[in-house]
Amino acid sequence: MSTDTHVSNRWSSRYAYVLAATGAAVGLGNIWKFPYIMGENGGGAFVLVYLLCILFIGIPIMMAEVVIGKRGRSTPANAVAHCAQEAGKSSRWSLIGSMNVLAGFLILSFYAVIAGWAAAYVYFAATGEFSAAAADATTHTQVIGDLFVGLITDVKQLLIWTTVIVGSAVFVISKGVKGGLETAVTYLMPALLVLLVVIMFYSAVVGDFSAAFSFMFHVDFSQLTIKGVLVALGHAFFTLSLALGIMMIYGAYLPKGVSIAKTSIMIAVADTIVALIAGLAIYPIVFASGLEATAGPSLLFQSLSIAFGNMPFGDFVGTLFFVMIVFAAFTSVIALLESPAAYLVERQGMSRTKAAIISGSGIWLLSLLTIFSFSGAEWTKLSFGMGADLFEFLDYITANIMLPLGGLLISVFTGWVMKQEVVKEELNLPDWQFSIVMLILRWIAPIAILLVFANAVGLLQLS
Ligand code: TRP
Repeated sequence: MSTDTHVSNRWSSRYAYVLAATGAAVGLGNIWKFPYIMGENGGGAFVLVYLLCILFIGIPIMMAEVVIGKRGRSTPANAVAHCAQEAGKSSRWSLIGSMNVLAGFLILSFYAVIAGWAAAYVYFAATGEFSAAAADATTHTQVIGDLFVGLITDVKQLLIWTTVIVGSAVFVISKGVKGGLETAVTYLMPALLVLLVVIMFYSAVVGDFSAAFSFMFHVDFSQLTIKGVLVALGHAFFTLSLALGIMMIYGAYLPKGVSIAKTSIMIAVADTIVALIAGLAIYPIVFASGLEATAGPSLLFQSLSIAFGNMPFGDFVGTLFFVMIVFAAFTSVIALLESPAAYLVERQGMSRTKAAIISGSGIWLLSLLTIFSFSGAEWTKLSFGMGADLFEFLDYITANIMLPLGGLLISVFTGWVMKQEVVKEELNLPDWQFSIVMLILRWIAPIAILLVFANAVGLLQLS
């Protein structure tokens, strides 16, 4: 394998890099997924475990990925191969990269469907569905619930929205017109954060803030299960966009002299803050309007559309909010589609357009599994003991198995395979800090991941 596909572009500044990487990290994972998995896994204790996973596993593994990307200055598989060769080890280690591509592909197949839901909600908000539902307070929650169920069980609507999302992503990738989009996102992401904070304050005033706060931060370990620990670990990878080669690609463009450790911490902190704010925006409404914390994937959509129904200018604010969610999700869809497309260009020598169309079609076909899962089709009830249907299966096998496994390989690779002087040089930390990072990458992260896995194996009663 050649390792001479070196990239020569660089981020224009440390700020540009942190913003772009935070943009890739913040997405449906923070605003849609984190709040509902927290609810399904009992609240406070889950949040605590999640924060520990981010701190002790997510951040060091992010550093490791950036180190590999920066050292290899190349696409993920080649960067890994380069680092392995430099240490006199087998370039087979680059297989890590192939598993990453597969995991990203599977994630995208359901991510695109949920992005489609958000697009449908832009339409609902703009056409006044939220305020109409609020007209009668006694049926408000019910009507909003029906709106959601009506959407997710309507295969035709979902096919249209998913096709719009995947089709636009294919267009953007094949035309290489990402530049404009990236500029747009650098404005939209901070705007999303501001809007989320506004919604959080609104929820705090009209909803049950103290119930939400104690749900999220009162730690009661009796509520935590081993499955919850696995979900928290998996989500730490998912939300930081780890183990998919993304941070390696970003690291490849890192200018000299930027601290990998400091910027990784900044990205992770920003990502975590967005997730916590999303929780604080959603739960006061959940508890005040009789929704269930354990509702699952519907939680964001139902709680906030109730809030928008009651809010002054709610249809407008709701439209704005869901437009921003669509953008945040769309940038992730593009990042995720980019890697299989780039793989086809690099390995199969395809043209960009052809590669984008082929990967997009693959995603579209695979997304049918998720679409039909939500409509309750009988054949989707198959999940091999991992969740209730094929959507939950795809989520489980990617977030809870493939990403932690990828993270394990990355930490072992950086801790044991790469030349230690190289890692030290790239991290450029004082000795004692470097020792801590290495202790985590060599021992703590791999052992913690293996322990969680070993305990979780009992959960998979294959049926
Ligand atoms: N981190 C994203 C989120 O929280 C999801 C994601 C995972 C992602 N891996 C990715 C996005 C790779 C872009 C690229 O929603």
